[in-house]
Amino acid sequence: LDLSLPHKVADLSQADFGGKEMQLSEREMPGLMECIRKYGSQKPLQGLKVMGSLHMTIQTAMLIKTLHALGADIRWASCNIFSTQDHAAAAVVEQGLAKVFAWKGETLEDYWWCTEMALTWPDGSGPDLIVDDGGDATLLIHKGVEAENDPSILEQKTDNKEFQCVLDRLALRLKEDPRHWHKVAAGMKGVSEETTTGVHRLYQLEKEGKLLFPAINVNDSVTKSKFDNLYGCRESLADGIKRATDIMVAGKVVVICGYGDVGKGCAQSMRGFGARVLVTEIDPICALQAAMEGYEVTTVEDALPLGDIYVTCTGNYHVITGAHMEGMKDEAIVCNIGHFDNEIDMNYLENTPGVSRLNIKPQVDKWTLKSGRSILILAEGRLVNLGCATGHASFVMSNSFTNQTLAQIKLAKENLEKKVYTLPKELDEEVARLHLGRLGAKLTKLTPEQADYIGVQVEGPYKAEMYRY
Ligand code: NAI
Repeated sequence: LDLSLPHKVADLSQADFGGKEMQLSEREMPGLMECIRKYGSQKPLQGLKVMGSLHMTIQTAMLIKTLHALGADIRWASCNIFSTQDHAAAAVVEQGLAKVFAWKGETLEDYWWCTEMALTWPDGSGPDLIVDDGGDATLLIHKGVEAENDPSILEQKTDNKEFQCVLDRLALRLKEDPRHWHKVAAGMKGVSEETTTGVHRLYQLEKEGKLLFPAINVNDSVTKSKFDNLYGCRESLADGIKRATDIMVAGKVVVICGYGDVGKGCAQSMRGFGARVLVTEIDPICALQAAMEGYEVTTVEDALPLGDIYVTCTGNYHVITGAHMEGMKDEAIVCNIGHFDNEIDMNYLENTPGVSRLNIKPQVDKWTLKSGRSILILAEGRLVNLGCATGHASFVMSNSFTNQTLAQIKLAKENLEKKVYTLPKELDEEVARLHLGRLGAKLTKLTPEQADYIGVQVEGPYKAEMYRY
């Protein structure tokens, strides 16, 4: 690592454009603007080093601006090789908000280099706090500690290109300082995690007793997963598919794999365009929900003769296999909106003799299969809304990122244990409240008698913990 490097972005001349788009997003991000107004003078993050591993978009630039206003010293990387908006990265650097290491179209080697650069301050120290999305920054620290305890794990052979990059980085680091990641982990006040997949990883670490620092699960704030995952994807899925292919969605058969928060938004979106939507699920509750919304619930195998567009939204592994792709209609479109690219078996396409790739444009490839038919793969199987479009709109991200900001303040202020926490319901309700005004919504106020009758306080919280929204 060259720690004298102040930042690495694609093109600083785009900073002005990025700055203008940041300014335009202010009205749409009332939660973040209120955080700046409320906490800007108290500076609860003063003197703290914050590292971010989260899609470097305009919306994220506004989160960075907020954390900077709260006093943080920030370094940032993206959490996906295709999701950076280069003008956003340039604006953040130019405005002196953070040191950014991110550009659109990184290689996997670049990606892990950027992650490690963002995790390492010029004096060699690590961050106090991490804003993670998908858990890659957290993973690098945990794997680093594991490798320092048992260097033999670095010898393991893996076909997973991405994991190999992690092992290579750790091997380099181990030579320089055999206790580096131990020191980084020991210095950490905590991480706040943005997404379902990253949160799964955190609960797994906690369960195995391996979690090295406190964590806040931001995803499961109601004002995050029931908004960003649902309404965010309801708009940005179509944006990704349209920008990539210009396909007419109306009348097509769209297969949505997984009917969780993301799947629900994606299914509704495609139906809204006039598609016939089929849903696949493993969970009978979600399958029943889909059926009662009027979607046909079936399996990928049974959908193969019908599907024109496939969207994976499961956070699971190999939901679309090589055999599935071989069985699809000619020029079917296949994309993923879940966090990692292994929902589609990209390995099958890349490593099967007789399967060939024709690049149409960046992030759009036509793969010819052994069947003689072809399919279109978007964003190389990575999240289509961020790879082929610009991710979610500012308004919904303001909800998510207000939760992130409150989580960072909580981690900074409180000495939490090495567990996974969620934010209290009062804060969740507050995040929602901050976003009502922009939409002209009028909230009804409980009378004291009514509050008493339903057993809550006039000022909330209004629901019990088990309420599911
Ligand atoms: P979720 O847990 O609510 O939903 C996933 C659903 O997939 C579950 O209902 C599960 O039963 C189902 N599922 C699992 N394996 C399956 C299989 N083999 N076939 C069919 N269904 C299966 O999770 P959520 O919040 O909907 O997130 C899904 C993924 O999307 C995660 O990886 C998450 O990190 C990511 N995400 C992506 C966003 C984006 O902007 N691209 C935004 C938010 C989340």
